[in-house]
Amino acid sequence: MSKLWGGRFTKETNEWVESFTASIEFDQQLALEDIEGSLAHVQMLGECQIISEEDANLIRNGLLALKGKIERGELEYAVEHEDIHMNIEKHLIDEIGNVGGKLHTGRSRNDQVATDMHLFLKRKTIEIIGLVDEVQLAILRQSKSNVETVIPGYTHLQRAQPISFAHHLMAYFWMLERDKERLIDSLKRIDVLPLGAGALAGTTFAINRERVAQLLGFESVYPNSMDAVSDRDFILEFLSIASIIMTHISRLSEEMVIWSSQEFGFIELDDSFCTGSSIMPQKKNPDVPELLRAKTGRTYGNLMGLLTVLKGLPLAYNKDMQEDKEGMFDTVKTVEGTLKLLAPMIDTMNVNVKAMRKAVAEDYSNATDLADYLVTKGMPFREAHSVVGRIVLRAIQQKVYLCDISMDEYQSFSELIDEDVYDVLKPENVVAARNSEGGTSQQQVRKQIELAETRLLKKEAPVT
Ligand code: ARG
Repeated sequence: MSKLWGGRFTKETNEWVESFTASIEFDQQLALEDIEGSLAHVQMLGECQIISEEDANLIRNGLLALKGKIERGELEYAVEHEDIHMNIEKHLIDEIGNVGGKLHTGRSRNDQVATDMHLFLKRKTIEIIGLVDEVQLAILRQSKSNVETVIPGYTHLQRAQPISFAHHLMAYFWMLERDKERLIDSLKRIDVLPLGAGALAGTTFAINRERVAQLLGFESVYPNSMDAVSDRDFILEFLSIASIIMTHISRLSEEMVIWSSQEFGFIELDDSFCTGSSIMPQKKNPDVPELLRAKTGRTYGNLMGLLTVLKGLPLAYNKDMQEDKEGMFDTVKTVEGTLKLLAPMIDTMNVNVKAMRKAVAEDYSNATDLADYLVTKGMPFREAHSVVGRIVLRAIQQKVYLCDISMDEYQSFSELIDEDVYDVLKPENVVAARNSEGGTSQQQVRKQIELAETRLLKKEAPVT
């Protein structure tokens, strides 16, 4: 079958070259964006009288008919037509005759594919912002029920200081809030129209790019045609934001895996989010957080892949750039799937308040508070640190906790220690005492949750 660009050729394309260079297998995901871009382009061509209004209408109706077929899954794609752009153009010509060949006036596949990608990523970025919101809401709900739940806080994965479980969860709320800000900010750079750049240098036709931008809902047009067709920064930016999102989710997933182990027993994931073992009947495996953690790998890979594809490319378009798509589609799918699973998994997880409480009662994570206590009684902090270090060592040797040490024993370390120390050492009080701004006290955590709620409600609607 003859190619749309076949005029200059005397031989058929090698069969393997044809399938190797084709992108239709994956870029068919851009079919609706391609139609949308073409509808705007042809309307502008008609309005600017580059083609007659009558031809523009015929093309428009042909495109709408194809759109219906795409939506119903009826449009068939052929490898010999290489990519989505030429497949659709071929179908258009089959549908309405030679007049369909006027659609490509004043444009190139180079500005066309860039436009499709901008349209696709803009829509997906807005969808992903909404999905991040859902996860944040789930975190908020769990946090609200766990302000009073005390859990050991860790550094180096060693017990450090008792904290409110809500405080721990809310740390992830703020990570996701920054991710959302990054996504919203990236929309500014996605919201720019490449169409009208032609192959690289513009076009000889008196087109109206602003009109196309307006029809497609883009904020502005690329001021440089070379940049317009060569730029893939907006995809790199998306891939890097997605990688940061996945890093955050991977950290949370890791904690969920650890917390649901028998050693910790802090949470139990809902049965509907776990799987069993084919051999060990007792097993309930946290496969979902494990996979979320693992899927981070492919998002990094997609980012590295595209960075590497682009790094040595001369201006303007090079076929290398066709390699921008699969990684982008994969990351979109991965991030969407991840966020969709994460929200209900957080909502349905069972928090074992007793196990958490037991953990903080049976450790030395209130040692800093004993040192701070001595400081309030007048001892310099460095000295207090050393005294408490010796108390902890003695306690460990005697297999007791700080709350169990007798007053006589305490006073043998420092006369400054009095009966009021036992209250100070209670885990709830230890948490309540960290009332500095952004600290873990129940009061500060409630304030933080309120701020988070107003942020979610007041969130500026992204450009649509
Ligand atoms: N399938 C191509 C891509 O994804 C479309 C642009 C092709 N342009 C070209 N001059 N061969 O990059």
